[in-house]
Amino acid sequence: MRNQIAAANWKMNLTITQAEELLNTLLQQPKQLSDHQKVVFAVPFPYLPLAKSKVDGHTNYFVAAQNCSNKKSGAYTGETSAEMLQSLGVEYVVLGHSERREYFSESHAMLAEKVNIALDYSLTPIFCCGEPLNIREAGTQNSYVEVQLKESLFHLSAEQIQKIVIAYEPIWAIGTGKTATADQAQEMHAHLRKVLSDKYGKEVADTISILYGGSVKGSNAKDIFSKPDVDGGLVGGASLVAGDFVQIIDALK
Ligand code: PGA
Repeated sequence: MRNQIAAANWKMNLTITQAEELLNTLLQQPKQLSDHQKVVFAVPFPYLPLAKSKVDGHTNYFVAAQNCSNKKSGAYTGETSAEMLQSLGVEYVVLGHSERREYFSESHAMLAEKVNIALDYSLTPIFCCGEPLNIREAGTQNSYVEVQLKESLFHLSAEQIQKIVIAYEPIWAIGTGKTATADQAQEMHAHLRKVLSDKYGKEVADTISILYGGSVKGSNAKDIFSKPDVDGGLVGGASLVAGDFVQIIDALK
């Protein structure tokens, strides 16, 4: 079975004390995961060493950064390199979140560079894609999201693309409480898998985990994750509430 992943995206939330409390609560009696089930905490940069020390020893629990630089090293004040993340033992990095695309002008080309450098340092990119409301209303979401994949990922080899996790996050569903229906998620995920299959072949496409993100909660996770092409979720708001996130982990196939 493909990897099924519950990824917490804390965004720019919590103090160090709150972060530690949340991790302690979640990891005190962690759910035992099957080989194909994984939990990832995408925490703010300053909390990465803490989160890493907390997940260590817990099988299939991992830590992610929420971004990394597209540059290797050097005079880029305020940036964090993939090499630094690797040196901390970080395993995943969220790339191309819609908030970064929108507020920090991350382009397709820049994201392609970030994907490359993340892979160079053995980080697994969680590559985000998703359409804004006006595109959904126009009914052109499939081609919009397809372009995001093609422009930032399709230079990769078949071997490399299998190291990517994709997160489909319709922007109109992020932080709005307005979740895509399970059927809408499945429809897009199946489309993306078809796009991957046309480029890399079915066998390769079938190995790639595609997460859904956008107002996933404890109460709707099971329904959404039950769809055949939905391999878990990237979760913002509900990942800050221990009880909710535990339910989300429980909902993994
Ligand atoms: P949300 O955020 O769960 O709060 O909608 C999801 C995300 O942006 O990754």
